[in-house]
Order: sequence, then structure tokens, then C-alpha cells
Amino acid sequence: MQIKGQAALVTGGGSGLGEATARELARLGAQVAVLDLHLDNAKRVAQDIGGIAIQTDVSNADSMQAAIDQAAATHGPARILMQIAGIGTAKRVIGKDGNAAPLEDFAKVVNVNLIGTYNAARLFAAACAKLDPMEDGERGAMVFTASVAAFDGQVGQQAYSASKGGVVGMTLPMARDLAQHGIRVCTIAPGLFATPLMRTLPEPVQQSLAASIPFPSRLGKPEEFAELACHIVTNGHLNGEVIRLDGALRMSPR
Ligand SMILES: NC(=O)c1ccc[n+]([C@@H]2O[C@H](COP(=O)([O-])OP(=O)(O)OC[C@H]3O[C@@H](n4cnc5c(N)ncnc54)[C@H](O)[C@@H]3O)[C@@H](O)[C@H]2O)c1
Repeated sequence: MQIKGQAALVTGGGSGLGEATARELARLGAQVAVLDLHLDNAKRVAQDIGGIAIQTDVSNADSMQAAIDQAAATHGPARILMQIAGIGTAKRVIGKDGNAAPLEDFAKVVNVNLIGTYNAARLFAAACAKLDPMEDGERGAMVFTASVAAFDGQVGQQAYSASKGGVVGMTLPMARDLAQHGIRVCTIAPGLFATPLMRTLPEPVQQSLAASIPFPSRLGKPEEFAELACHIVTNGHLNGEVIRLDGALRMSPR
């Protein structure tokens, strides 16, 4: 699919990998709706790229449906969904006090990262399936964001790894399911990227993380994620696949 002239939705578009992807889509000529829980950040990005900002909670059915409708009212129906919103925590199964980790903490991460991704995907797909087919019968494309933690999660990453592993597991069946509607689904599993979250870590920690990446031994640039996300949209034969983007990194246990 050509990105130029298409309407696109970017969840988590107010920061980090989502922000870079929103900017790249706009550079390539898409009309971009920046969907984020944090409206101020979404507005900052949307203003810069001539898009619109919509406060959205991806894990809430009404909020996500309203965002899809509002974006369509401004830009026309979207054929591109970049799902990049996500949260992460680390928590040992048994705390220092000997008590089990709170169940709510696990549920919250799964709710945003996994259920939120499914929620946005199902609502986007239902709207997209009604559009006219383009070349090859294609109607739209979705990109999900997992993590290398889906495969080699570290100590304490139970919830995060489970949520991202769920996104990985959902990719192929959703691509198969939506094939009849001409909607493609791929997932990117990033390694370690230089986003605001990462930059809050002390410099020595960032350096040691970067050194653990075989090549190139530096944190990934958000623009590198954005380029791949946009390539997935334009390459019509990429479907049902999970692509690691990690400089050959394999995370150690801790
Ligand atoms: N940065 C990395 O190294 C890295 C590595 C692997 C995977 N990832 C994944 O990439 C994605 C982006 O990460 P990032 O580093 O850019 O993080 P970030 O915190 O900079 O951006 C995430 C954005 O998602 C938004 N968000 C959170 N919950 C939301 C919700 N319920 N509804 C809508 N928006 C919500 C936040 O407000 C934020 O703007 C996440 O899914 C993360 O798990 C990041």
C-alpha cells in the first residue's frame, strides 16, 4: 500500500517509538491521528506534523471506538493502524517481604499491552473491512509492537513478557483471520531503543545496556523502528510475521 494520502492511526503516538512513527508517516504523506492516553504529548506531536490528537485509552472499548470515529470524521477512514502504546513494569513473583506480587499489577500490564492491542485491532479491522479494496484486494495494514522480552524476558518481567508474548501469539491467527478482508498484520519485537523511558536511566546503565547489543552496540534509534513500521505497510507480501529489531541482542536472565 502507498502511504501517501492514507489516513493512519498511531496509538502511543505521543512519545518514543510511537512519536517517531507518527512523524515518519506524516513525512511520507499520510494524514495522522495521534492517539495517546496523554493528550498534551499527543497534541505536541500532532501540531508538529499537521495531524490531529485524540485522547485515547487503547484498553477501553468506548474510548478506542470514539477515537476511530473522530479520526475518520477528520481524515476519512484509516487504512493504517500502528499500535505502539504500551507500559512496562518489573516485579518479582515473591516480594522482599515474602508476599506474593499483587495480582492487579500483572493484570494492568496485560490489560494495556495485550487486551489493548486486541481491542484496537478488532475495532480498526471492523471499520477497515467495509472499505473498497485496493491493489491485490488489500484494504489495510496493522503493525503491533511486542518486545524481545516476549522471547527472552528477564527476572521480574513476568507480566510484561506475558503481555508481549500474547501479542506475538496473536499475530499469525489474526493475519489468517483477516486475510479474507485484505487486512495484513505484522508485529515488530524491538530490542533496546533510546526513548524517553530509557533516557530516565542513569548514563552508565544506558551504556552497559548498549554494550550488550552485539552490533551495532548502541541503543536503537526510534527512527529505525519507524522506518520498519512504515516498510511493513508498503510491502504487501509481509503478513503474519514477527520481526525482531534488536541488533542480534538476546537478553540475559537479569
Ligand atoms: N523503548 C524500548 O526499548 C522498547 C523495547 C521493546 C518494546 N518496546 C515497546 O514499544 C512501545 C513504545 O515504547 P516507548 O519506549 O516508545 O514508550 P513510551 O513510554 O515513550 O511511549 C508509550 C506511549 O504509550 C502511551 N500509552 C500508555 N498506555 C496507554 C493506553 N492505555 N492508551 C493509549 N496510550 C497509552 C503513553 O502515554 C506513551 O505516550 C511499547 O509498547 C513498549 O512496550 C519499547
